[in-house]
Order: sequence, then structure tokens, then C-alpha cells
Amino acid sequence: MIVILLGPPGAGKGTQAKSLEDSMGLIQLSTGDLLRKEVNTGTPLGKQVKQAMDEGKLISDDILIAMIKHQLQANKSGFVFDGFPRTLVQAQSLDLMLSERKKAVDAVIELKIDEEVLVQRIAGRFQCKNCGAAFHEQYKQTAKKGICDVCGGREFVKRKDDNAETVRARLQIYQQQISQILPFYRQQKKLYQVDAMQKPEQVTQQISTILKVLKNQSLTKQIIH
Ligand code: AP5
Repeated sequence: MIVILLGPPGAGKGTQAKSLEDSMGLIQLSTGDLLRKEVNTGTPLGKQVKQAMDEGKLISDDILIAMIKHQLQANKSGFVFDGFPRTLVQAQSLDLMLSERKKAVDAVIELKIDEEVLVQRIAGRFQCKNCGAAFHEQYKQTAKKGICDVCGGREFVKRKDDNAETVRARLQIYQQQISQILPFYRQQKKLYQVDAMQKPEQVTQQISTILKVLKNQSLTKQIIH
């Protein structure tokens, strides 16, 4: 299956993509994580994109499309896209790259959420410096205070772009771009919405229900034809 998660910064795309990776065996393709890895390891690409990322600006379509092309070549399984596509050009290119591999997007899930909640979610977010596992001061604390649940690391960091000014810029860009992407997928009849204001497990439940129905429909089609 190929699933795209859309939503503003802090809507829970990363949280839900991880959950789909665990429950459905899909590979999470988070362009934000891929870019941050380049920045953190100081590659030439990382150096090129660092400033724009810190300011919450979009990285060029060419870079992102090349990055996804590489990931599609390297991995054969189903995917859950988190943070891509973000522009109409990226959405169109993804369709093309998938059709070259005789694949197509199955579902585009929009995480609907109020803006005030986003700021709260982003402000409380932190991650393990060692393994990158994500936590939240209110909603997802570490089981033992100050110790990462995943790797036992004791150092935590906040993302550089998680400050009020940058979050405002990221939200503004999101609103501009999403107004072009939603009609593109609505026209293809692939767009679904979930209420992302609910608890993470409840959001996961809503997404799983949609994907199960789609899976059953595709099985029925195979039987009929
Ligand atoms: P990216 O990393 O994609 O950032 P983003 O879209 O702003 O999204 P976030 O990662 O901030 O939020 P999320 O929706 O994943 O929420 P999360 O699950 O963490 O992109 C960063 C930058 O990279 C961009 O600004 C741009 O520069 C560049 N970039 C990336 N892709 C690009 C592209 N395609 N084109 C161009 N440039 C690109 O959840 C947030 C917090 O809330 C967490 O702490 C979590 O624990 C908590 N939480 C999650 N769900 C719930 C819930 N249901 N209830 C309570 N708490 C919850």
C-alpha cells in the first residue's frame, strides 16, 4: 500500500507514520527526517539546506524529488509518506515516479487539527539526541524521567525550527501549498480526512479503518476480475 499523510506542522504525521510502519509494515518516508539527517551529519546537501530549514522555508522541489526517487529505488515495499508531497509539482512527480514502477498512491489522509493545538504540540516536543525517538512533555513522556524508552539515552534535544516565529512561517507555507494539493487528490478520489485532535491511538484507529476498507475493496476487485 502507498499512503500519504498530509497535515500542518505538529498535526501528528510523524507519530502516525511510525505507527503505520509498526502495524502495517509500511516504510516511513519522512522528508523532514531525511533532510535533518543530512544536516546533522554535515553532508554537502545538509549544508545547502540547513538555513532554509531553520527558517521553516521549503527546500527546492528538485532536491526533494531526487531524494524520493532514490528512496523508491532503494526500497521495494509499501510506503507511508510523511512530509511529502508538499507542493503540486512534488505531487505530480510522485505520481509519475510511481507509475513508472507500475504503482500508485492508494490513500491520502489529511490530519485535521485546530491551529492553537499545533503550537502546544510543537512547543512540548523533544527527542532523544542519540536515537531520535520522539516524546512530548505532556502527551508522551519517557517512562523513566530523563531516560529514552528506546535506547536508554540521557540527552534530549529540541528541533531548531520548533520556535514560535518559525512555526508561524511553516504554518503559513503549509496553508499556501495545501490549497493546491488537496484538489489534486480530491479529483483522483483518494482524499480522506481524520480528526487529528483525538488521542494518538484514536487517530491511528481512524486511519487503520480507512486503510482496511480500501484493502478489502481492492481484494474484492481482484476476485471479480
Ligand atoms: P517536517 O519534519 O516534515 O516538519 P513538519 O511538516 O513541520 O511536521 P512536524 O514534523 O513538525 O510535525 P508532525 O506532523 O510530524 O507531528 P509529530 O508527529 O511530530 O519538515 C521540516 C522541514 O523540512 C520543513 O520546514 C522544510 O524546510 C523541509 N521539508 C520537509 N519536507 C519537505 C518537502 N516535501 N518539500 C520541501 N521542504 C521540505 O507530532 C508533534 C508532537 O505532538 C509530538 O511531540 C507528538 O508526540 C505529539 N502528538 C502527535 N499526535 C498527537 C495526538 N494525537 N495527541 C497529542 N499529542 C500528539
